[in-house]
Amino acid sequence: MDTMSFMNNYAQYYNKAYENLTPDWFENKQAVDAYIELNRKTLIEFYEDYSKQFSFPQNDYSELKVLDLGCGLGGVSQYFAGKGAKVTGVDVSSLAVSFASELAKSKKLDIEFKVLDLSLDNSSFGEFDLIIDSHLLHCITEEKGRENYFKFVKNSLSKEGLFLLETMVFQKQFRTPVEYSMDEDWTLYKGETPFRKVKPGIELEDEIKSSGLEISYLYFHAELSFEVFDEYKDYPHQNLPQTARLAAKINKS
Ligand SMILES: C[S@@+](CC[C@H](N)C(=O)[O-])C[C@H]1O[C@@H](n2cnc3c(N)ncnc32)[C@H](O)[C@@H]1O
Repeated sequence: MDTMSFMNNYAQYYNKAYENLTPDWFENKQAVDAYIELNRKTLIEFYEDYSKQFSFPQNDYSELKVLDLGCGLGGVSQYFAGKGAKVTGVDVSSLAVSFASELAKSKKLDIEFKVLDLSLDNSSFGEFDLIIDSHLLHCITEEKGRENYFKFVKNSLSKEGLFLLETMVFQKQFRTPVEYSMDEDWTLYKGETPFRKVKPGIELEDEIKSSGLEISYLYFHAELSFEVFDEYKDYPHQNLPQTARLAAKINKS
């Protein structure tokens, strides 16, 4: 399957991934909470460091409108809703969105969830003070889809709003896992299927700048700080992708 024909299939691909989460598994509250915690952990750590360093938010959380992109089961959404923010989570997988809604309800958290393919649809449905992406961007592998994604972010960010992103980036000694391959455009394929985009940091910076956003904070974590491939457990950190953590605002100049 080439990259173009994959373009409309994010919904199908990610719905399939979420089908692995069985009703039995959902019954096990501890397992669900542990899974959510594991997936959101590094983003929350990043957010908390950032918010201490830059005194964010300046006002009360109840005045903060937060958008969680690629929300999955909604762990990041739950964290901000727990602080009192008004939160919307979006994901391409309708299955993830219905799980996330149920989980939020069970925790008595008022969160709005929407199904949206950010590689295709860039029309905004509101202005947000904080837009968070915890590991979605590297799932969008084709350039057109990423352009759409950034248009959506720019259209949805308030004038002084903050975009926080955590994503995988390439490094020189990167080792492609067995059964994966990488092309010259940094697309990592799982068999025939485009799976992740792992760009070098400098290319990610260029992509963000040309989308009309201005990076105000950028930090490269020397090693991948979240789990992607089981096989990575045995790799030395210099063979793994790195993690980029960045904050950006709308470029007003
Ligand atoms: C690696 S998971 C991260 C989940 C969640 N943010 C977290 O940190 O736990 C990536 C999420 O992005 C979603 N996703 C992938 N492609 C997408 C797209 N084109 N539009 C919207 N969401 C997408 C997937 O369904 C998945 O839930």
